Amino acid sequence: MSDAPIGIFDSGVGGLTVARSVRDQLPRESILYVGDTAHSPYGPKPLADVRRYALDVLDDLVAQDVKMLVIACNTASAAMLRDARERYSVPVIEVIQPAVRTAVTVTRNNRVGVIGTTATITSRAYNDAFAAAPHLELFTQACPEFVRYVEAGDTTSRELVSLAEGYLQPLLDEGIDTLVLGCTHYPFLKGAISYVVGDGVRLVSSDTETANDVYRTLVRAGIERTSSAPPTYRYEATGTSAEEFLRLAEKFLGPEVSTVELVETGTITIPHQRRTP
Ligand code: DGL
Repeated sequence: MSDAPIGIFDSGVGGLTVARSVRDQLPRESILYVGDTAHSPYGPKPLADVRRYALDVLDDLVAQDVKMLVIACNTASAAMLRDARERYSVPVIEVIQPAVRTAVTVTRNNRVGVIGTTATITSRAYNDAFAAAPHLELFTQACPEFVRYVEAGDTTSRELVSLAEGYLQPLLDEGIDTLVLGCTHYPFLKGAISYVVGDGVRLVSSDTETANDVYRTLVRAGIERTSSAPPTYRYEATGTSAEEFLRLAEKFLGPEVSTVELVETGTITIPHQRRTP
């Protein structure tokens, strides 16, 4: 069991920010990553659809004998975390609680903002998670266009900054001192977001916090990898375009993602190698 891979799942490539942090913090662990690119993006979709898609992918990951599930997607975490914890016997880690815990400890004025996809914000999953800290005031804002900008490779343009100003000004008007980046894509916008919110607002992103949770859970369950053989990293996508996954994966995780396997309901169909330039 301890030598089995950690299963990491996202709607697409955004969860690679979490995979990156897990690799950095736990270099001995093997990873099996699945991006549900057939249904991505999840953000604009009804929560019931997201829940169905996500459970399908997690069922496939469990069938491939992963020792832990990491839901590296805020929208999926918002839609089906409770179902996942009831459904699987392996530990399930998600991205909302780790970020909330950090925000609770870093805020000084107890006024916290959360940004995310439309589905994440309308689900009120962050409101529920922050309910354990009733002394905090929470202000949420959907930023539906951010994912599209990141995937197009635009993380710095004036157009993006002005979009960010529009999204973030209402939160600044509320006097927040902490902002949770409640979407796996948003760490790529840290430069633009921190430029807009200024030095007085601490940014909290779930990628590193989630990797901390993965480590803690492995140790508590006594399932850290012990093999001296090098770890394995596999990347799967449910969509039809391996090229598109690899293009974005290179941006999110770097050139080490060189191969993606296109899968359909858990069956590997087409291994696809990045073309060497
Ligand atoms: N991974 C999603 C999230 O963290 C963003 C991308 C999408 O909308 O599917 O919410």
